[in-house]
Amino acid sequence: MKNEVLQNIVTRRSIRKYKQTQIKEEELETVLEAGTYAPSGRGMQCPILVAVQAPDTMAKIVKMNAQVLGSDKNPYYGAPTVILVFAPEERTTYIEDASCVLDTMMLAAHSIGLAACWIHREREMFQTEEGKDLMKQWGIPEGFAGIGSLALGYADCDLPLPPERKSGRIIRA
Ligand SMILES: Cc1cc2nc3c(=O)[nH]c(=O)nc-3n(C[C@H](O)[C@H](O)[C@H](O)COP(=O)(O)O)c2cc1C
Repeated sequence: MKNEVLQNIVTRRSIRKYKQTQIKEEELETVLEAGTYAPSGRGMQCPILVAVQAPDTMAKIVKMNAQVLGSDKNPYYGAPTVILVFAPEERTTYIEDASCVLDTMMLAAHSIGLAACWIHREREMFQTEEGKDLMKQWGIPEGFAGIGSLALGYADCDLPLPPERKSGRIIRA
């Protein structure tokens, strides 16, 4: 079967080269709102989304993520927007809840012509004093953990073709 949603799932790719042009406010709002519609354990809607665009904040998170990675490169690939997703550790499904938000936003971004890439290491970044300070500044309650983030922008490269799907991963019982 084929439809627009399935086509969007199949053609989405992680993009690692971004134009410096900032995305439109309407595009950011669309992606963020899509994230809020992701499913969550018991429908608790616990994840909190932080959209980073301010250059000084961006520089901070780039440095923090690179430190965890042990690299001097920008782990967000120079994307002009990064959406950080936090979730409360007290909820048994907090990682799954935040992951659903990230995946939903990736698909929403692709559907409106934006490029995105899921970026890791937010857990470690926001366990540091600098990270905790930022969370406090943003009004994120104690007990929340960074789960992941989305680099977001306009692609500065062609959309890669999807690698062939590994076989033997579907079992029918
Ligand atoms: C949990 C998770 C963490 C990821 N972390 C990173 C990351 O830190 N940096 C990165 O470039 N890509 C990251 N990715 C993207 C994957 O590398 C990418 O999804 C994979 O290579 C498949 O490519 P595709 O998304 O184009 O299908 C992550 C993806 C997931 C699901």
